[in-house]
Amino acid sequence: MIPDQSIVPPLRVGLAAQRTPPPNVLVIFGATGDLTARKLVPALFDLFCESKLPAPFCIVGLARRAKSDAAFRAELRASAQRFARAKPDDDSARWDHFAPIVCYHQADFDSADGYTRLGARLRELDATRGTQGNRLFYLATAPEYYALIAERLGAAQLAPPGGAWERLIVEKPFGSDLASARALNRQILAVFDEAQIYRIDHYLGKETVQNIFAFRFANTILEPLWNRNYVDHVQITAAESIGVEERGGYYDGAGALRDMVQSHLLQLVALTAMEPPVSFDATAVHDEKVKVLRALCPLCERDVDDIVVRGQYAAYRAEPRVAPDSTTETFVALRLAIDNWRWAGVPFYLRTGKCLPKRATEIQIHFKPVPHPLFARVVGNGITPNVIALRIQPDEGIYWEFAAKRPGQTIQLSDVRMDFCYADSFGAAPGEAYETLLLDAMRGDATLFNRNDEVEVAWSLVTPILERWAQSPPPEFPNYAAGTWGPDAANLLLAREGRAWRAP
Ligand SMILES: NC(=O)c1ccc[n+]([C@@H]2O[C@H](COP(=O)([O-])OP(=O)(O)OC[C@H]3O[C@@H](n4cnc5c(N)ncnc54)[C@H](OP(=O)(O)O)[C@@H]3O)[C@@H](O)[C@H]2O)c1
Repeated sequence: MIPDQSIVPPLRVGLAAQRTPPPNVLVIFGATGDLTARKLVPALFDLFCESKLPAPFCIVGLARRAKSDAAFRAELRASAQRFARAKPDDDSARWDHFAPIVCYHQADFDSADGYTRLGARLRELDATRGTQGNRLFYLATAPEYYALIAERLGAAQLAPPGGAWERLIVEKPFGSDLASARALNRQILAVFDEAQIYRIDHYLGKETVQNIFAFRFANTILEPLWNRNYVDHVQITAAESIGVEERGGYYDGAGALRDMVQSHLLQLVALTAMEPPVSFDATAVHDEKVKVLRALCPLCERDVDDIVVRGQYAAYRAEPRVAPDSTTETFVALRLAIDNWRWAGVPFYLRTGKCLPKRATEIQIHFKPVPHPLFARVVGNGITPNVIALRIQPDEGIYWEFAAKRPGQTIQLSDVRMDFCYADSFGAAPGEAYETLLLDAMRGDATLFNRNDEVEVAWSLVTPILERWAQSPPPEFPNYAAGTWGPDAANLLLAREGRAWRAP
């Protein structure tokens, strides 16, 4: 019997290779800001150059400063020149095709009139450019404006004509603790349905993060090993070599726990530890991720004192827009436990920080030592247990480290690596996360975004740490020198359990 090609098997839902999104207008709130200049516009221009944007498609940049369309386009050209892969100066004709799809809308987030004028402009674009009433609102603004803009969008009744869609992308951070995340969810959900809301964590758009799905669920040999029977522990490191640079104002109010652990690192834990979803549609994937996050053992006050380490690098307090007596952490290390059948008894050690020796994000699966000391007589206890490492960035790839016999008449073992490197295997480094995420939101695929319960359960793990830290004085800050792997306490965290961090 010839299979019916029109039926998509459930396991392939969400995996369609290339689907051009339908026509739409992207409205960027905060269009004169840093995120738009460094990430969004370069991503959009690169997508345009690769013919991946829908047609028709328009971008409306909204911000407070008065400026003409021409001035706005000139600024965006300079940003694209600096940050996009395709350089407008190398091919001006391409930029000249792109520029007319961009326009500027001056408005204050708080002004009802600004939204009324926006509605008129969107209807005009639908009529003159054929964007079919579909709207994607991107909140590239400071977090305190998210709820206000959602509320004003609702009040302005910009709802598109029947059949068209309206979606909202909300930038990170989503809340600053459990209570504020819940409140923000409530406020936005009063206007938009969950299916319309796309909470961004740009880590999820990275090719290497998506490849965790492929590596784990498209390869038979891993599944029998990926559990407490074979895995000794997991280490996840997200290291930055730079300090806060110009972001001191934001960072000093946030810190490493909010900025990195609550979002990126817990996402990596969820993807590493989740069960295979029944399909790759958003609901199935979110359900499995939430199950892992719910299984993380909550931390009581004593746990926070014992298994969460905070650090601050030496010159932090002298950075621009950082308080001279700041107690903000620029480094966190912690030990998590997942209370479920697959992972009971397997510690997950997480660390992240600024001014560390290198920029590297890596997930390492450390396997148990061999049970029978067959080689002990010749090599002593020096056999290193196997490690599989997923290099999220840079040098994106995966390596497996195992023992091999050195050539020669005596038995001597060495650790060797099998290394898969994206750039070598696929001929190019992976694309930018924002490109993937923008297209997914236009297509209505929320798999790589955060659902409301996912954000809240991540905050429910992190909030007791914030509360404990607010009550107890920090250790002697600063407590680590730039260019080191954080305070000694981070090494002790593993050493007292007979383990050691392994540099990515
Ligand atoms: N920058 C990044 O790399 C990055 C990375 C990850 C996440 N994020 C998140 O992305 C969001 C935006 O960050 P950003 O760095 O782009 O911020 P930003 O540089 O401070 O930009 C803020 C934007 O908001 C506009 N704005 C502020 N108040 C306004 C008002 N009342 N009415 C209208 N426009 C107003 C500003 O326009 P005017 O200047 O014209 O007033 C500007 O366009 C933040 O939530 C941040 O956490 C940023």
